[in-house]
Amino acid sequence: MINFCRSKTQSNSIESIKSMAHNKNILQDSHGRTHTYLRISLIERCNLRCSYCMPEKGVQLSPKSHLMTYEEIFEIAKTFVKHGVNKIRLTGGEPFIRKDIPVILEKLASLPAELSITTNAIIIDKFMDVLKLHGVKKINISLDSLNREKFKHITRRDQFDIVYKNLLLLVEENFNVKVNVVLIKGFNDDEIVQFINLTQNLPITVRFIEFMPFDGNKWDMGKLVSYEKIMDYVNVSFPKENIQRLQDAPNDTSKNYKISGYKGSFAIINSVTNPFCDSCNRLRLTANGQLKNCLFSSTESNLLATLREGKSIEPIIHKAVQTKLKMRGGMDTLEKLQEPKRHNNNRSMITIGG
Ligand code: 5AD
Ligand code: SF4
Repeated sequence: MINFCRSKTQSNSIESIKSMAHNKNILQDSHGRTHTYLRISLIERCNLRCSYCMPEKGVQLSPKSHLMTYEEIFEIAKTFVKHGVNKIRLTGGEPFIRKDIPVILEKLASLPAELSITTNAIIIDKFMDVLKLHGVKKINISLDSLNREKFKHITRRDQFDIVYKNLLLLVEENFNVKVNVVLIKGFNDDEIVQFINLTQNLPITVRFIEFMPFDGNKWDMGKLVSYEKIMDYVNVSFPKENIQRLQDAPNDTSKNYKISGYKGSFAIINSVTNPFCDSCNRLRLTANGQLKNCLFSSTESNLLATLREGKSIEPIIHKAVQTKLKMRGGMDTLEKLQEPKRHNNNRSMITIGG
C-alpha cells in the first residue's frame, strides 16, 4: 500500500529538489526573471565629483587589497557568462582611470558576451585603439549640462570642453554613443530641448534619467524631473507629428523617442516614477567584489572573499539571485523610496557603479 502521507523531512527535501530543478539556471530568480546582464564596477575613484553620485565629503574607499584584480574580475565574469550572462558593462567610478583597463578589456573581450562601458569620457581619447581592438562599440557618457559653468558646478571640476570634444571624437570614430543626463529640477531641466537638439546632427541617443536617491546625494522628491514633466517640455517644443515613439528593446530601461528627420534619438529612464523591475535582467558587481542583486538593495554577497578562499562562487550567486526582491530592493512604493532610512541604507552611487 502506498503511503500518501509524507513526513515533514521528506516533503522538505522534495520541495528543495523541486526548487533546484526549477532553478537549474542559477541566474533565474524567484519572480521568474532571468539575469543575463552583469555590470561590473572597476574602481571606486573618479576624476569628477558629480554631486548626485559622490557625497561632498567623499566616500570611504576600500583598501587596494580589497579590490578585485583583473584576474579575479575575469574569473567572476567567466562564471556569470557560463550561466548565461551575455552582456557585460564596465562602470566605476571612472573605469578608464584604472591602470590595467587595457588588460581587463582584453580578458573580458575573450568571453562570449557583448562588452560595453560607461564613462565620463575625460580620458577616453587615449583608449580609442584599445576599444576598437577589443570590439567595444557601445559607450555611455555622463554629461549633465551643455553649459560649461553648470557642468563645473555639478561635477565640481572644469572639464566640460574635453568631455564634449571626446563625445564628438567617439561619434566620428563610429562608436555607438549614449549620453546620460541626470535631470535635477531647477538645475538642468531648462536644457532638455537643447540636449534633444544635439541629436539633430549627431547620431547619438540622449537619455534623460530621473534623479534617484542614494546615500549622501541629498535627493528629495522636489528635485525630481519626472517622465511626464520631460514630455511636457518636449510637447511644447516640437510639433506633435514630429515626435516619434520608437520601439524599445527587450529589457530596455528607457522609453525611446525620436524627432523626425533628426539623426539621433532620445530616451527617458523613469526608474522613480515607473520602475521597470518586472523585466529587470541586471546584476551588479562592485569593485570590491560584492554582488548586488539590485541597484537599490541594501544587502550584498561577498563573491571576492569566497573566490579568494578557493571555493565556488556559484552557490553564493544562486542565493543572491534567489533572494532578489521584486522591486527596488524592497522600496516598492514611492513612499518607501522617499524614506531616508531606507534609501540611505545603501552605498553611494560612486561605489555601486551606475
Ligand atoms: N540618479 C540617476 N542616475 C544616476 N547616475 C549616477 N547617480 C545617479 C543618480 N543619483 C547615473 C549617471 C551616470 C551613471 C554612471 O549613473 O547617469 O552616467
Ligand atoms: Fe564620476 Fe560618473 Fe559618479 Fe560623476 S557620475 S562622480 S563621472 S562616477
